[in-house]
Amino acid sequence: MNAEERIIELRNELNKHNHNYYVLNAPEISDKEFDMLMKELETLEKDHPELHDPLSPTQRVGSDLTKGFEHIIHERPMLSLSNTYTISEVDEWFDRVKKGLEGQDFEITGEMKYDGTSISLTYENGRLMRAVTRGDGTQGDDVTANVKTIKSIPLVLQPGDWPEKFEIRGEILMPWKVFDELNKEREYNEEPLFANPRNAASGTLKTQDPREVAKRKLDAIFYYLLSDNLPYDTHFANMEAARKWGFKVSGEMKILHSVEEVDAYIDYWDIARKELPVATDGLVFKVNSLRQQLNLGYTAKSPRWAVAFKFNPENACTQLKFVSFETGRMGIVTPVANLEPVLLSGTIVKRASLHNADIMKELDIHEKDWLYVEKGGEIIPKITGVDESRRNPDSKPVEFVSHCPVCGSALVNKEGDAAWICPNKYGCRPQITGRIEHFCARRMMNIDGVGEETAELLYDKGLVKTSADLYGLTKEQLSILDRFGDKSAERILNGVETSKQVPFERVVYALSIPNVGETTAKRVAKSVKSMERMQAMSVEELQSIPDVGPIVAQGIFDYLRDPINVENIKRLSDAGLQMQLSEEKMLSAGTALEGKSIVISGTFANHSREEYKEMIEANGGKNVGSISKKTSFVLAGENMGPSKLEKCQKLGIPIISEDEFLEMLKNAD
Ligand code: IVH
Repeated sequence: MNAEERIIELRNELNKHNHNYYVLNAPEISDKEFDMLMKELETLEKDHPELHDPLSPTQRVGSDLTKGFEHIIHERPMLSLSNTYTISEVDEWFDRVKKGLEGQDFEITGEMKYDGTSISLTYENGRLMRAVTRGDGTQGDDVTANVKTIKSIPLVLQPGDWPEKFEIRGEILMPWKVFDELNKEREYNEEPLFANPRNAASGTLKTQDPREVAKRKLDAIFYYLLSDNLPYDTHFANMEAARKWGFKVSGEMKILHSVEEVDAYIDYWDIARKELPVATDGLVFKVNSLRQQLNLGYTAKSPRWAVAFKFNPENACTQLKFVSFETGRMGIVTPVANLEPVLLSGTIVKRASLHNADIMKELDIHEKDWLYVEKGGEIIPKITGVDESRRNPDSKPVEFVSHCPVCGSALVNKEGDAAWICPNKYGCRPQITGRIEHFCARRMMNIDGVGEETAELLYDKGLVKTSADLYGLTKEQLSILDRFGDKSAERILNGVETSKQVPFERVVYALSIPNVGETTAKRVAKSVKSMERMQAMSVEELQSIPDVGPIVAQGIFDYLRDPINVENIKRLSDAGLQMQLSEEKMLSAGTALEGKSIVISGTFANHSREEYKEMIEANGGKNVGSISKKTSFVLAGENMGPSKLEKCQKLGIPIISEDEFLEMLKNAD
């Protein structure tokens, strides 16, 4: 078998396994076997650039940065559905259909209304050509590069009776599990949380970097097939066909024959939908026969042959026990409603954040009030209101505290900011232990064994007050602590030791500088290059770092001038922590390649392709896929593809070796 045949065979194999895994949930081979096939294909494709196919399974990672999205006019406008909120409204729609069809027999399909972001895919000759968002219904954004990263979407269809050209519409979704994990991570990094999976899915789809999209594990379910020559004359049969071609189609779809069956379907799914792995906000009913759909036609905005039934967002009313005020690592005091436990969307809710003084005031909560708690598409329960009719006339409004509930300091508040802050940074227990815990966490210094409880214990026993104290801990000190054996003491000391190798950007993140989360820390570290320089910079200089605004810059500046922090940073530096960027990272920060279009080709000895790509981007250059007149140079490793070589020679494009490239960046610095 020659290379071309093997490449084709591998692509087919991998497409099949992707489908088994992501659509059918029934993998036939192990992850390892899958990875090996993928590796083989990658190697073969690298050796044979002339056989490149943008729809090869290797191309799902998406490597090109798409700046902005092109607007595409939909061939057929993407209409919305008319909504109903009660069973009787659905029954009325059923009657209107019956009347419109003048006594003909008809069937209805019932299916889930998925709560994601809608997408239209166009296939030609069994291959994905384009993915466009709904936009305003007439035109949407071309998000093909991002959609290609979604593993359950077939890039090339399974053999079948698909029309030569068709459009399929569906919903891009973020499964609950993925959503929960994403938000946990964002909470940890102090990034704003997504309110629900729908926002997370649409936000992700609009991300400019397909690699980021690939990481987010989106899914897609399809519900509408459009073409001039559909294979079957009912919606149900067409969707079943689409399932066979490789699409994920709603498994809950059912044919219904009477208004009673429609009502029973609603009753059933109103409860059962809570068990589904993805968010739904209702049901959709459609007339099954395409001919009858045509008969019924459209109003200006929506089809007469379909209707949506929206579920009520789940809510409950429960009594407030008390409002607690909790001080966090950054000193912010958050009011929390402690509730009589109540069951909501499958979980027992006992607490709900009231966020800040302004929100609390707006709700006008009184002691022992009965509160409405809602958990529609949102994971975090939300207090939406008060049942005033159940309020005891003598009960007083709950006031926001004026002093820190832990250390008693008078709270302060910045103009125009709703947050009240305990200013006692170095004397307030949760702030101190919170900073220690943050410093040791996995994404910061990764000191295994120091979580919330241990941080509190180390502080309470007088061993650790600031992060630098960790580096003076001894085995004897740790071993005499309750609950601490030799083993856990050793684990912590090992973690402390290895943390000295943690790169500078994570040290910056670990320090708990106000408003400096993971991404900002990376940006700042890359730009300032060393702690020494950062300490010498003015607010204006700090503000010139990309993404650093006046508030963040001032926060960094003040932090670095606080004598306690100055002392702590000095001790950390003396302990041997990385206080400057590694040489490698230094290479990747600057403007040396501004305005240059660079093609990467071949295999490399010093860094991975991905790392070179990052270096190019960090230095202001652009990594492009193919050689053209506009290419500035080709960064070439071993085994550069022969066709690329030829093209370079023809167009007179310089070829630069790995060493020359690294030298170039070093000198530019
Ligand atoms: S059919 C012309 N089926 O709901 C009818 N839509 O308000 C085309 N949606 O924009 C839509 N699940 O994003 C249909 N099973 C389903 C659906 C569904 C969710 C969304 C879709 C559409 C909106 C309509």
